[in-house]
Amino acid sequence: MNSLAGKRIVLGVSGGIAAYKAVEVCRRLMDAGTHVIPVLTNGATRFVGRATFDALASEPVRMSLFDEDDPIPHTTLGQTADCVLVAPATARVIGAYAAGISSDLLTATLIATRAPVVICPAMHTEMWEHPAVADNIATLVKRGVSIVGPESGRLAGGDEGAGRLSSPADIVAEVDRVLDFSGRRLDMGGLSVVVTAGGTREPIDPVRYIGNRSSGKQGYAFAEEAAARGAEVTLVSTVDRPGPLGPTVAPGVTVVRVNTAEEMAVATAEAAKEVDVVIMAAAVADFRPVDPAGVKIKKSDGVPAIQLEPTPDILAGLGASKPEGQILVGFAAETCDVADNAAAKLSGKCADYIVANDVAAENVGFACDTNEVTVLASDGRVRPVGLRSKRQVARAVLDLVMEDRADAREENQ
Ligand code: C5P
Repeated sequence: MNSLAGKRIVLGVSGGIAAYKAVEVCRRLMDAGTHVIPVLTNGATRFVGRATFDALASEPVRMSLFDEDDPIPHTTLGQTADCVLVAPATARVIGAYAAGISSDLLTATLIATRAPVVICPAMHTEMWEHPAVADNIATLVKRGVSIVGPESGRLAGGDEGAGRLSSPADIVAEVDRVLDFSGRRLDMGGLSVVVTAGGTREPIDPVRYIGNRSSGKQGYAFAEEAAARGAEVTLVSTVDRPGPLGPTVAPGVTVVRVNTAEEMAVATAEAAKEVDVVIMAAAVADFRPVDPAGVKIKKSDGVPAIQLEPTPDILAGLGASKPEGQILVGFAAETCDVADNAAAKLSGKCADYIVANDVAAENVGFACDTNEVTVLASDGRVRPVGLRSKRQVARAVLDLVMEDRADAREENQ
């Protein structure tokens, strides 16, 4: 994918130690053929010199609202940008942008633009986790701003924790993705989508449950990807959005919270009645205790014999009563014989696609931020999707679903 070539990108750099990494972001954007206009805050110049960006970028560094040839530099920059990227974004810049306060050229440009905005926070863990910063980030997400990172790792002063700027490669990939979106029409506009996410919890007693390692990240990625493409999304999930945003979700996504397979089955059947696409990314328990105890089981009573029974197979149920034209996507998280198991699920559950992954592999499947999958279609086609972020995996799967849907519609005409 390269939506970057020829695009005008305002690269905002604010005053954190990670400002030195913005040099690499600038270089990568230039290599990809973008026109980069660096806008530095006063704080940024304490960490990295103007001359570095002057030498690397397409235009000289801008810093001031007043000392430019242009009498209104922020509106010119905001109006002509294809994307405004801030890397690193400090707590101050994030707070000013969320509150609509423009105190320098960068914050004024952010408020003056209608172009997509990508914010890459970087700060110490204490600051990143402060409720004010969390609220400001949640506000920006609700407005459709794209947030990249931060990652966990080593911070300035030798501290460890969340708050490290994402890698220049990830930042540039997100700008590419955002530009690709703004350039294309919303190909899922008018469609309704149901997504399930997370692992179900089957109670043993009021405090214990049988669960699994699913984080819900892949399900949320599907929901947010579909919503960003214009779909109206209902997300039936056992968990809040993983990461700092908690219950905050992107615009276009309505979350229905459930716990057990039974609750997920009821909520999904209700939501999926007339929708165009159903994506069963949840890790639904296959078994549950027959008779959960009403009070906490006491250790002193000895090891309990817990009798299990099968849960309803939600995907198979939806497959058996699928309305005409509805597209059903199931998942197969396997630890061995991935292809065979996935193929068996495809036919056994009457799904249109099975997204299979080997969860025993490194950086794949449960809890991590990346995934590597193989998509099996009911007509026998197999499409591998190599290791990438869960959002990019969602994108690749939805691309395939939408391509096939368009082909089927053409054939029917
Ligand atoms: O049968 P298995 O759990 O391996 O199949 C995985 C797929 O089936 C996933 O899409 C999962 O969401 C779905 N599933 C379901 N109901 C179950 C078990 C799995 O919908 N009880």
